[in-house]
Amino acid sequence: MKIRTLKDISEIKGKKILLRVDFNVPLEENGEIRDDTRIKESLPTIEKLVEEGGKVIILSHLGRPKGKMDETLRLTKVAEHLEKLTGKQVKKSSEILGDETEKIISGMNEGDIAMLENIRFSPGEEECEPEFTKKLAGLGEIFINDAFGAAHRKHASTAGIADHLPAYAGLLMEKEITALSPLLSDKIEKPLTVIFGGAKIDTKIGIIKNFLGKADYFLVGGALANTFLAAAGYNVGESLYEKDKIGTARDIMLECEKKKEHFILPHDVVCAEEISEDAETIDIPVEDVIGNMKILDIGKWTTEKYCNILEKSKTVIWNGPLGLSEHTPFQNGTKTIAEFLAKHDSTSIIGGGDTADAIKKLGIDESGFTHISTGGGACIEFLSGDKLPGIEALKK
Ligand code: ADP
Ligand code: 3PG
Ligand code: MG
Repeated sequence: MKIRTLKDISEIKGKKILLRVDFNVPLEENGEIRDDTRIKESLPTIEKLVEEGGKVIILSHLGRPKGKMDETLRLTKVAEHLEKLTGKQVKKSSEILGDETEKIISGMNEGDIAMLENIRFSPGEEECEPEFTKKLAGLGEIFINDAFGAAHRKHASTAGIADHLPAYAGLLMEKEITALSPLLSDKIEKPLTVIFGGAKIDTKIGIIKNFLGKADYFLVGGALANTFLAAAGYNVGESLYEKDKIGTARDIMLECEKKKEHFILPHDVVCAEEISEDAETIDIPVEDVIGNMKILDIGKWTTEKYCNILEKSKTVIWNGPLGLSEHTPFQNGTKTIAEFLAKHDSTSIIGGGDTADAIKKLGIDESGFTHISTGGGACIEFLSGDKLPGIEALKK
């Protein structure tokens, strides 16, 4: 995939650079940043631009304010945190377009950093409204997109702006594309195993279809497995599953059978009647699930079987926690598989916001994985083989 990168920029020094990042970080209830991974991951790009004397004007969204101002979603705390991480002043504007922003930008020196307010406060952003896009572009001379996590959105600051300015990928964007692209090629090292968990089938169908005929094994867990178990005729009790997706689940399993692919569902499952930190659990064969039981994790036997398959895999893609891992009684499957994979010598790619979050919270050594994507939806769409507007704009 040919995209323009920082190396293609002839002159950074003195230039006003509009840098789109994905600083859509999870917040605590009191507004503090719970996890700054996405900020840290874009530091190399910011530092490089600063070092080379660019005037770095940062654009980001935070949450989904839907085109309106929302005091709880201002980027003030993010800008303060970036000041700590860079050791440099970040001149934060309290607006997007307007006098304050223009004053800040006109006062910038080489190597300075500024940050505009949450770009989604403007209705023009998500609509990619032409006038807004043009005005936004008018604030800078070069556009750099480091927001891989938002690359699946066709918004003013992720795609539209590239119609008006020379556009390049930042270092994080480049890193994500470099790590994920080989998975879409034929040169993938086999056996390839794709692990699926999480909740919603719809968000995973694209990847499943894209890897049908390519993957050697599909290992399934999470609430997703419940829908497949129900489609296979099992009673899933009161487990979370998608009744209206049973037909889809059946089609996928039939397709796998035709292609002689191994689509593996849990044989034993961890069940409870209630979801809590001290829930009483039982590990039982799937055929024994009845009544008001809820399947909340893959069982020990299944976990071991999945590890045996991973042991012989050369490439592993993982999207979706294998159980309700936010609660201790249901985290064994996700934790054991993550620990195994982190130690195992294979190419291991983790995608999906909740999966990356689970790995972090469970205290797994993240350096054991080849790549943990900063993208949730973006990573899933990329691996589904879809064209991402934010990346396409960098090819023009
Ligand atoms: P990702 O963001 O990594 O793509 P998803 O958003 O698809 O993952 O799913 C994550 C959610 O699925 C988590 O909140 C997790 O608790 C939930 N989940 C996983 N397994 C189960 C289960 N058996 N029952 C209920 N919820 C589950
Ligand atoms: C994400 O968190 O996945 C990205 O920041 C995109 O956010 P969005 O789903 O609100 O567009
Ligand atoms: Mg999710």
